[in-house]
Amino acid sequence: MAEGFNAKTAYSVANKVMIVTGGGTGIGKVYSQRLAESGAKVVLADIAAEESNAVAASIREAGGDALSVPTDVTDENAVQAMADKAADTFGGIDGLINNASLMSVLPRGDWFDIKADRWDSVMAVNLKGIFLCCRAVYPYMQKRGGGSIVNISSSRIWEGNPNRLDYTTSKAGVVGLTRALAREVGDDKISVNAVTPGFTMSETQIASSSSNYMGGRDDGKCFKRPQFPDDLVGAVIFLLSDAAGFMTGQTINVDGGMYMH
Ligand SMILES: NC(=O)c1ccc[n+]([C@@H]2O[C@H](COP(=O)([O-])OP(=O)(O)OC[C@H]3O[C@@H](n4cnc5c(N)ncnc54)[C@H](O)[C@@H]3O)[C@@H](O)[C@H]2O)c1
Repeated sequence: MAEGFNAKTAYSVANKVMIVTGGGTGIGKVYSQRLAESGAKVVLADIAAEESNAVAASIREAGGDALSVPTDVTDENAVQAMADKAADTFGGIDGLINNASLMSVLPRGDWFDIKADRWDSVMAVNLKGIFLCCRAVYPYMQKRGGGSIVNISSSRIWEGNPNRLDYTTSKAGVVGLTRALAREVGDDKISVNAVTPGFTMSETQIASSSSNYMGGRDDGKCFKRPQFPDDLVGAVIFLLSDAAGFMTGQTINVDGGMYMH
């Protein structure tokens, strides 16, 4: 047993202030709900204001702590205002899940048909958005004496999936950002890790994928069943908890054993 390890509290995120970008729909909504059920104070930062407000309201109705701050993660001022509001409301910031992404809204298709402006938008949300959110929470985590950042990448980077070249490229960038930032903020006791989810049956993914595309996706897994948002929650909460306190710069793959690294 590690010295100083408190088995009763190590895996808990109770009372920690956690920001979930893109927390209003899809997998982010499930992270927000489960974190709140675990006793965390959750800040939903999603461009989808109506959805985000509704999720936060339902968490509060169930007795949890949640604040929706509709935010475009590509807008530096809006991101700063969101972090300030989170800290003002809950007294600080302990964790950040960079989950917002352009994914389900992107048509799948040949790389040659991707226009330059779409490429720029994907990089803006999926990479610059993460950079801006990390920068906005950093002073607050320093004040707290530490913190944890979890960046959501994709298992596409292990396979090199085609048909969304911009998206796959951005998600590989997330791993580079995770590793380099982990070295930059280690002295501040801030961990930075990444998770690579497999194809996950989020409400948004289901709505944007044909049954033909979804068929046969489980064949290569060790666990031959579809992946659901809840399959990701354990890894994400672990990385946000004290139990993962000596892990940083790492990437955890959660995909039912499709890819191994
Ligand atoms: N569902 C999957 O199969 C799968 C697989 C691997 C990785 N992922 C990743 O997991 C995360 C969640 O996936 P999902 O299925 O819920 O995806 P999604 O595309 O449906 O949801 C992304 C969320 O980001 C929000 N968002 C988009 N642009 C934004 C912006 N500019 N500012 C703030 N919020 C913005 C959306 O409103 C939405 O709530 C994403 O990072 C995605 O890339 C998903």
